[in-house]
Amino acid sequence: MRALRYDSFGPIGAVLRMAEVAQPRPARGQVTVRVHCASINPLDWKLVEGEFRMFFKSKPPAGVGTEFSGTVEALGSGVTGLEIGTPVVGYINPNARPPGALQQFVAVDAKDVQPIDAGDMERACTVPVAGMSALQMCRLAEVRSGNRVLVHGASGGVGSFAVQIVRALGGKPVATGSRQSQPLLATLEPEASIDYTAKRPESWGGPFSAVLDCASTLGSSEVAVLLSSGGRYVRTLPAFPWVVLDPLLNPLRPIKHFTLKLAPNADDLRTLLTWMRRDRLRPVIAERFPFSNAIAALELSKSGRAHGKLVVHIT
Ligand SMILES: NC(=O)c1ccc[n+]([C@@H]2O[C@H](COP(=O)([O-])OP(=O)(O)OC[C@H]3O[C@@H](n4cnc5c(N)ncnc54)[C@H](OP(=O)(O)O)[C@@H]3O)[C@@H](O)[C@H]2O)c1
Repeated sequence: MRALRYDSFGPIGAVLRMAEVAQPRPARGQVTVRVHCASINPLDWKLVEGEFRMFFKSKPPAGVGTEFSGTVEALGSGVTGLEIGTPVVGYINPNARPPGALQQFVAVDAKDVQPIDAGDMERACTVPVAGMSALQMCRLAEVRSGNRVLVHGASGGVGSFAVQIVRALGGKPVATGSRQSQPLLATLEPEASIDYTAKRPESWGGPFSAVLDCASTLGSSEVAVLLSSGGRYVRTLPAFPWVVLDPLLNPLRPIKHFTLKLAPNADDLRTLLTWMRRDRLRPVIAERFPFSNAIAALELSKSGRAHGKLVVHIT
């Protein structure tokens, strides 16, 4: 089968190559999926470039990509509830195993896939990483009915889900994005939309109950302006030494700070897929790529110019 691979850490344009490798077979408790679509996340190119080599099991030679949709091709022993041909969406937990969704077949634990409608391949593959990240940020922020919640970086993969999830939980989302992102933000129907390049945080409409910083660019003085006492600030990227100190300092602080550490799980993915089927969650697809052009999708993600999710069609 064809697979996007790399043999050493380095810039994606230099080290990634399309390779012919053996088709994986399912071990006990696993399924092999014929991949139809895979979606791109910043983690994918960061792993290739060695940015998180201390934290994840991904070491070259390795594959790329952590979320996919497709059809079940083969069942390992002990797997129940899935049949050959069942359309599924799934993820590869990079805390547990090396990635590799940008390839024609993938073998994963049966618990890491969920059945979907055959017509949902494209939008479902965008949900696992960014959708579960947004949902778990809302949980850390204790988003409740009626809360006003600022979603910073709302035009990105995580942010575009976060605006919709805040609303699904009964909250009132206010979204920020650059001037170029404003048309996309309007489609998410937030309570208000802010061009963060044109206005200072003092005039973003705070204080809010919570700030979900999907871009991880807000400083502590800005956070203090945006949140009321008892407010909760959640960022996506770790900042040292705060990622270590925050849990110790939070009991003493009026404003609590948290860093997301995505914990992929079947319950959260099922919840998001249910919302998607009921049209309460609409994945925003920015651009589609053929498998032969998957590196361009990763380059676009790295450029920071993509707004919404990027989907690679494998078959
Ligand atoms: N900790 C975890 O477990 C975890 C899980 C998932 C993701 N992440 C991380 O979270 C980040 C966001 O992920 P993503 O999938 O949403 O990425 P993405 O789709 O690339 O979106 C990033 C968004 O950030 C906005 N942005 C860029 N520069 C900005 C700035 N200076 N100020 C405010 N917004 C800015 C961009 O929109 P504008 O053009 O509108 O500015 C863009 O839409 C990535 O760094 C990713 O690695 C961490």
